Amino acid sequence: VSRPVEVRIEALGAQGDGLARAPDGTRLYVPGALPGERVAVRVQGRRGDGLLAEVRDILETAPDRARPFCPLFGRCGGCALQHLDPRTHAAWKKAQVEESLARRGLGLLVAPVVLVPRGTRRRATFGILRTAAGVVLGFSARLSHRVIDLPACPLLTPALNDLLGPLREALADVLRPGERGTVKVTRTVDGIDVLLGLKREPGPRECRSLAGVEAVGRFSWRGEDGGVPEPLLQLRRLHVSLSGQAVEFPPGAFLQPSPEGEAELVRLVRDGCAGARRVFDLHAGLGTFAFALAGDGATVKAFEADEAAVAAMRQAAGRAGLGGRLAAEARDLDRRPLAGGELKGCDALVLDPPRAGARAQAEALASAGKGPERLVAVSCDPATLARDLRILVDGGWRVERLVPVDQFPFAAHVEAVAFLSR
Ligand SMILES: C[S@@+](CC[C@H](N)C(=O)[O-])C[C@H]1O[C@@H](n2cnc3c(N)ncnc32)[C@H](O)[C@@H]1O
Repeated sequence: VSRPVEVRIEALGAQGDGLARAPDGTRLYVPGALPGERVAVRVQGRRGDGLLAEVRDILETAPDRARPFCPLFGRCGGCALQHLDPRTHAAWKKAQVEESLARRGLGLLVAPVVLVPRGTRRRATFGILRTAAGVVLGFSARLSHRVIDLPACPLLTPALNDLLGPLREALADVLRPGERGTVKVTRTVDGIDVLLGLKREPGPRECRSLAGVEAVGRFSWRGEDGGVPEPLLQLRRLHVSLSGQAVEFPPGAFLQPSPEGEAELVRLVRDGCAGARRVFDLHAGLGTFAFALAGDGATVKAFEADEAAVAAMRQAAGRAGLGGRLAAEARDLDRRPLAGGELKGCDALVLDPPRAGARAQAEALASAGKGPERLVAVSCDPATLARDLRILVDGGWRVERLVPVDQFPFAAHVEAVAFLSR
């Protein structure tokens, strides 16, 4: 076991860890330590290009150190930054976006972070494990697959917190001793959508207790191959409300993490597309932006890889009488990005890819002769956003404005919206 060493924390790394140098110059990652602090640390093992070190003692405290509001902070991997004053926290997230852009040679002005209140998260994925003492359900510990049992989480909406206990109990009938998996829960208008990730499909008798959990609206299962979820218990039809339109919610579908975050993103996207008559919404999900833009009077074409989401969007558009103004198409935009003549007649285009970004689509937009003159790029990963913006800027696009949105408060993640024109 190594002896504690004293170090000064220089900065916060991308995962929210304090960064320091060991006396021999080795990079140290120190979770829970803040820039400016002098701390005694003990090395725990390797981490990336350096070593992971645990704080043994804080010898000098940073002025912006805050008291964490959750008793699990430091053990549970759901949050990385509760120990940081909210204002410094927001400034750090903005700096994360700026640094990602700078790494791609983009010296752009970034607006202050739009904040989302805590206690609003309506979806989460937990690890689950059946032990001799019962079911453990919660987020993983940091840098580990070990599940930390979660009695309650201050970031979750009350409906999800109320679910944790009954769900844990009901899962005791589903999981076999030693079995582990995941459970994804999403609050919809009519009840909670529960998607179990497990190697084997549970039988009807094992699922019976779940029917007794009042808040559960549907229980589905997905195997390890990540295929299409299979509903096992359909207690109610589930739908979500997107810009006032009721849209059926397929098992495990994508929904923005909180209604407040969704409202901010919708506001920004509407702003970026204001006045556009024909809009393409790419990676459209269930139509979070498409329904808002169609409501503003635009003709919207939505593209999305998930066929169940496309079907739900079409059905909702038809029911709302938007059939002529909102069309949805199933398309894998990595393999078949919209290009050339397909982009003709489109005034504004919205991109909202998963973390991997939209490289192929950015390349197609960078080389498109005709097509949209405005682009709104929404992203939950500043690194892939910066890569895609670089491609677009090299193809003649200008980034007008960048707004980070703190969709994931107290985690190291940050969402950002970029407005481009050409
Ligand atoms: C971050 S979500 C955004 C969804 C939607 N814009 C919203 O705000 O609710 C990303 C979406 O991209 C879709 N997606 C992932 N890979 C894709 C691909 N290769 N082509 C098209 N859509 C894809 C996912 O199914 C998901 O719905």
